[in-house]
Amino acid sequence: MTNDTTDGWTGWRAATEAALYGPDGFYRRPEGPAGHFRTSVHASPLFAEAVARLLCRLDEALDRPARLDFVDMAAGRGELAGGVLAALPAEVNARTRVYAVEVADRPAALDHRIEWLSEPPKDITGLLFANEWLDNVPVEIAETDSSGLPRRVLVRRDGRERLGEPVAGAEAEWLDRWWPLPAEEGLRAEIGLPRDEAWASAVATVGRGLAVAVDYAHTASSRPLFGTLTGFREGRESAPVPDGSCDLTAHVALDACALPGGRVLTQRDALRALGIEGARPPLSLASTQPAEYVRALARAGQAAELTAAGGLGDFGWLIQPVGVDGLLVDGLFVDGLLVDVPDHEEQ
Ligand SMILES: C[S@@+](CC[C@H](N)C(=O)[O-])C[C@H]1O[C@@H](n2cnc3c(N)ncnc32)[C@H](O)[C@@H]1O
Repeated sequence: MTNDTTDGWTGWRAATEAALYGPDGFYRRPEGPAGHFRTSVHASPLFAEAVARLLCRLDEALDRPARLDFVDMAAGRGELAGGVLAALPAEVNARTRVYAVEVADRPAALDHRIEWLSEPPKDITGLLFANEWLDNVPVEIAETDSSGLPRRVLVRRDGRERLGEPVAGAEAEWLDRWWPLPAEEGLRAEIGLPRDEAWASAVATVGRGLAVAVDYAHTASSRPLFGTLTGFREGRESAPVPDGSCDLTAHVALDACALPGGRVLTQRDALRALGIEGARPPLSLASTQPAEYVRALARAGQAAELTAAGGLGDFGWLIQPVGVDGLLVDGLFVDGLLVDVPDHEEQ
């Protein structure tokens, strides 16, 4: 973190940490994330159904362990944990322990079967799933100065910025490796090192199974020139001001987070492989089973939103197998995707 805190100037990492997770931080507010924006979890119950399906496939691949774990990492108000529990077949449900890992307090009305934790449990057998977590892991921002040198961006609580010291050490190495900045004044990059570390420590809690991170993402071939830091407040994008009044989010360099064996796919492809399609039901159903037709139409609309180009469908899924035979996981999930997915659609 920065050492320049004179007159309230600090790096974006410390400023974001305080604004989101400090005592009066944005994510500690009673309304929770759903009060300000919609994630895939809120967009449709189909998302939790797809995650439950993935958990069931993993259960088979793990030879149906006596205890199957599901960890909803960065759980918001536990909506995904609840949805997955509700969608599991009874036999799997009976063997599954569900954990919600969150900075905020446990919601009063949460299903008593969901264990609420501030850190992920250790040595799980099953699935750790992090939807829109890594984009909220605070990072430093670098900007090139007039001589083309990347410097740390300093910010005040009111959102004003100025340039600080040159980026050095492990952060400079990360930039060189993952997001090199051309020597042109004003270009910006988010230094994803804390996200790589956060992801590695979450993956380390999986003994056998899968860890999956889903987020707005970019890869080395498509880094944005001016970064992606933005704010969100009450459903609208806003200026990023680190005063606790808004979310502060920046897209994730998921390729940098990936550990050996990890794969990045689009949400569109991942959900398709898990049986979520946006196709409309046949019109003939409308005359034979009108109620079923209306239900199927609603599901198709929700599936279309979850898989939309230019929207949630473009999110990245980083899939990280741990302690399971690679072929086993491929057969389960990744090869299943490849069969259906033309090469050019893979990231
Ligand atoms: C954008 S919300 C996503 C909530 C939920 N996963 C969803 O998709 O609707 C990000 C959540 O991550 C939580 N969070 C961030 N860092 C965390 C950490 N290190 N441990 C636990 N929760 C964290 C925040 O408090 C916030 O509720």
